[in-house]
Amino acid sequence: MNTYLTIDPWKLMEQGFHPEHQMVTESLFSLGNGRFGQRGCFEETYTGKTLQGNYLAGVYYPDKTRVGWWKNGYPEYFAKVLNAIDWSSLRISMEGEEVDLHQATCESFYRELDMKRGVLSRQCDLKLVNGDRISIASERYCHAEYPDLGILRYQIRIREGKGTLAVQSYLDLDVQNQDANWEEKFWEDGQTQMDGQTAVVSAYTRKTRFRAAAAMVNQLSLNGTILDLDPFRVQRDKYVELGYELDVEAGDEIILTKMVSMSSTLYYDETRLPAEMMTRVEEARLKGYSALLKAHEDHWARKWQEADIVIDGDLSAQQAIRFNIFQLYQTYTGDDDRLNIGPKGFTGEKYGGSTYWDTEAYCLPFYLATASPQVARQLLLYRHRQLPQAIANARKLGFSGGAALFPMVTMNGEECHNEWEITFEEIHRNGAIAYAIHDYVRYTGDRDYLWSHGLEVLIAISRFWAQRVHWSSPQQRYVMHGVTGPNEYENNVNNNWYTLYIARWCLTYTRDVIHELKSQDPKAWLQLADQLKFYEHTELRQWQEIVDFLYLPEDKELGIFLQQDGYLEKEQALADSIPADQRPLNEHWSWDRILRSCFIKQADVLQGFYFFEEDFDLDQLRRNYQYYEPRTVHESSLSPCVHAILACSLDEDEKAYEMMMRTARLDLDNINNDTKDGCHITSMAGTWMAVVKGFGGMRVRDDQVGFSPRLPEAWSRLNFRVRWRGRSLEIAFDRQEIRITLLEGAPLSVRCYEDVYA
Ligand code: BGC
Repeated sequence: MNTYLTIDPWKLMEQGFHPEHQMVTESLFSLGNGRFGQRGCFEETYTGKTLQGNYLAGVYYPDKTRVGWWKNGYPEYFAKVLNAIDWSSLRISMEGEEVDLHQATCESFYRELDMKRGVLSRQCDLKLVNGDRISIASERYCHAEYPDLGILRYQIRIREGKGTLAVQSYLDLDVQNQDANWEEKFWEDGQTQMDGQTAVVSAYTRKTRFRAAAAMVNQLSLNGTILDLDPFRVQRDKYVELGYELDVEAGDEIILTKMVSMSSTLYYDETRLPAEMMTRVEEARLKGYSALLKAHEDHWARKWQEADIVIDGDLSAQQAIRFNIFQLYQTYTGDDDRLNIGPKGFTGEKYGGSTYWDTEAYCLPFYLATASPQVARQLLLYRHRQLPQAIANARKLGFSGGAALFPMVTMNGEECHNEWEITFEEIHRNGAIAYAIHDYVRYTGDRDYLWSHGLEVLIAISRFWAQRVHWSSPQQRYVMHGVTGPNEYENNVNNNWYTLYIARWCLTYTRDVIHELKSQDPKAWLQLADQLKFYEHTELRQWQEIVDFLYLPEDKELGIFLQQDGYLEKEQALADSIPADQRPLNEHWSWDRILRSCFIKQADVLQGFYFFEEDFDLDQLRRNYQYYEPRTVHESSLSPCVHAILACSLDEDEKAYEMMMRTARLDLDNINNDTKDGCHITSMAGTWMAVVKGFGGMRVRDDQVGFSPRLPEAWSRLNFRVRWRGRSLEIAFDRQEIRITLLEGAPLSVRCYEDVYA
């Protein structure tokens, strides 16, 4: 548990240096602007444990897969987002001694991530090994308004000592991924160019041939006077450096302003990229530091205006919810349908920066309610763009006729995951993608998207389900064998209830959308059916038969749905019987023991209750919740938020609060002991869901939005905003009053609990 960060409503603050937590702090203090991001590392050299991680959105390398035992159908590579331009690093030396917090004595230290302004800063007083004393004050950010820009201001004050101060400012593309499968470097064909105080570096990714480039301009001042120094220049493959030497003495104050422009061939023409970066950085220089900072702060102010949640009475929850919202908007801004949301965003390399079902099942609702519909639409278009690869992926596994299996893990649409029990069997991800289409349409009412893009995806997914089930003679039902549900602590099971349920729902939803399009625009349907070679009579009839005769495991006596066949035959135990020193199970138990146990990694049957709540009554929910919640160990970050929402529906406020806080402070308190690998970005959207859908009780039904507010004991008031079909609504409530205000847009009727207010 982290106790070293101060609790504050808008800031993360580290008072006094905690080198033992440096990797965790670097993850937590990460910066990003949707286009690029970086871990919160120090600017100057640090020889202690650190991961200098800088990532450019969408720039990946297909790293050759490494597996013990190759299986047919495995992908040949795992595409990973590349550690890219190290743009904010410096080398600072005083009288030949390189400043390094791992060597120097830290006399005072303060590091802060200001989430309101999107700025990371640090102040520290150091005593160097040679006895000199200096102070450092740095401030940096990834520009939110101008997404090619990274800005750093670095101040050095000499407190004791005199001599030569060397400041080396560099751009380094000669970097490596920590998670490289074969310890290879992924950048090649570096080029550099220097001109006055400006320098540019570029290189290509191996195989994928993305080109990335960065240009920097430095400005140095001494005691308030801008210096016109001729820098010494270092230029080598994939590396440029501008260095300055000054004679300094006690009392002197040196400020380096480093502006960097960086991007890739996703956004600029390959041959012009370095020159474009030079132009962008020159434009930044002309705007000046203060104007740039203001534009950045204004951007964040606008974002907060829409997306902030205010919790009164509980600072710890307040800090956490803002941290979650902040990190989500640092990761994804929704202006490009080629980008998506990696489970670690730009904060670490685990999960390769790739796309998972997390996006559709967890992140989509957050973006739907806090940004323009265009943002969520981009996430759906991303999958539509990748439909041909999903069809090819299914074909590779033996499916036909336009059936699609979207990848478990992907960067460009091709499957990257390579554990057979997940790659081939954790197929519920297809269901989440279909559900997201429904969720988006239900929320926005955007039928254009549904008919022009969504339906094509739905048909391909439904075709997959229709082939993935088979008729069981003994059961006289359609069944689905060889599946891994969301609970990855069970593999290769038969008849996972959640997967069956979402498959059945998908077949009916697709059928309904087809009927709708057919009646609204028969010509458009005929065209689509022709394009997809959709044989309506045979395919729809077959789907209907599956829907009518699909097996859904349940135990009538207990009144619960069964996670899968045979679940009750497992030795039954409750999660609170597991000794604390054996948690998390995946770090303490053998895989075999985990698989044989009844313990559930994450919401599985209950994930189905969350998605399809309207299909069940409260008694069904209660029985299933009371059965599965005590058996769930929540060792996926995606789990507690779902339980929090269901607990709210069941009036179990205390449990709901506990679960909500577990998601909200997962990284801040390093609850799973893995924040060093990066933050759990996708589950952060789960925190938002737990607050807005859980305690706010927000639901969309029959083209109407509604709220059923409830306050956990620790809170005295909750206030949030949502966008809803061209409107902006503010919901504020305490124990006396619920106030729903229409801030923008046409009048509407809103449900509050069961009553409708016009
Ligand atoms: C979870 C998956 C999730 C992945 C990435 C795993 O631990 O079990 O459901 O997609 O992490 O967040």
